[in-house]
Amino acid sequence: MSALFTPLTLRAVTLPNRVALAPMCQYSAGPDGLPTDWHRIHLGSRAVGGAGLILTEATAVVPEGRISPQDTGLWSDAHVDAWRPVTGFVAAQGAVPAVQLAHAGIKASTYRPWAGRGGVPDAEGGWTPVGPGAEPFLPDHREPTALDEAGIARVVSAFATAAGRAVDAGFGAVEIHAAHGYLLHEFLSPLTNHRTDGYGGDRTARMRLTLEVARAVRAAVGEQVPVLTRISATDWVEGGWTVEDSVVLAGELAAAGVDLVDASSGGAAARASIPVGPGYQVPLAARIRRDAGVLTGAVGLIVEPEQAEQIVAGGEADLVLLGRELLRDPYWPRRAAAKLGAHPGWPDQYARAF
Ligand code: FNR
Repeated sequence: MSALFTPLTLRAVTLPNRVALAPMCQYSAGPDGLPTDWHRIHLGSRAVGGAGLILTEATAVVPEGRISPQDTGLWSDAHVDAWRPVTGFVAAQGAVPAVQLAHAGIKASTYRPWAGRGGVPDAEGGWTPVGPGAEPFLPDHREPTALDEAGIARVVSAFATAAGRAVDAGFGAVEIHAAHGYLLHEFLSPLTNHRTDGYGGDRTARMRLTLEVARAVRAAVGEQVPVLTRISATDWVEGGWTVEDSVVLAGELAAAGVDLVDASSGGAAARASIPVGPGYQVPLAARIRRDAGVLTGAVGLIVEPEQAEQIVAGGEADLVLLGRELLRDPYWPRRAAAKLGAHPGWPDQYARAF
């Protein structure tokens, strides 16, 4: 019996196994954040490959929340129509399509990695980012505008509206992106939040925006749809956000209606020294799972079937997310299932090959 290939039920949705495609920007959207054939084929291939949960890239809830001008979005009915062929194909393979809803905050309006570094000027389709304050992330990033309370309220309602649209578009689950130094994490971390109003100061005030978003998203999707939240469980910087903070946040997220915490790390500080190695973030997922009593996802340099199996079987996490390994090999889940003695379940169309 493989623990990795055991279904996981979250509310009214059952994932066929515990392997998820991690959210990964493809920088290949059409004008105005519309997903393209690239997204349908890329995400569809990973569904054919057997991952039980297919997460989209960071998908912006407002145009200024995109990381690059080529990121996907979900801020209009046109986006709903454009996502439907993607979700339809993924679901037809037996996988659950999920959207990662995001706002890039002060890290918005940057070049896609192969086009350059730093801020994209208006003349090339860029914009002025918004954030908790007016400090740019790095000197070559664009100078942001600090959000006022009305602006914060608009962010919360944009997440909720996008979550409602996600359900209309056929997504079976929603992940809130509160990690990697993007807007919600910028409010959580004392490294980036220097506000003196009700959204800054102590941990409770810094958590306020993320929890308001979680409650609004839960209300928008109803009781049946799973809501996940990706956090940076530590900033890896002295004086930054810590795993102890994450345990408290995870408990509050669960109370706000979040079903699973996807434990990533870093991104708020360029100077962080991150102990990167095989499964280096798994202890964060395990700690949150144990101390907050919430379901967790583990991510980061998980590449071997036995390694993934052990994470779930050993009770460190409930879901294993793979990023780059699934870029290298979309069929990793089916190969892993065979290796772990689970039924690989190749599609009928491919049966003669196995
Ligand atoms: C990422 N990652 C990422 N994370 C996220 O929360 N939203 C995103 O849109 C992206 N985009 C993205 C693009 C690309 C090309 C890569 C390689 C990564 C991070 C990703 O989800 C994952 O956490 C890391 O890649 C670590 O896992 P792996 O790749 O070691 O399995």
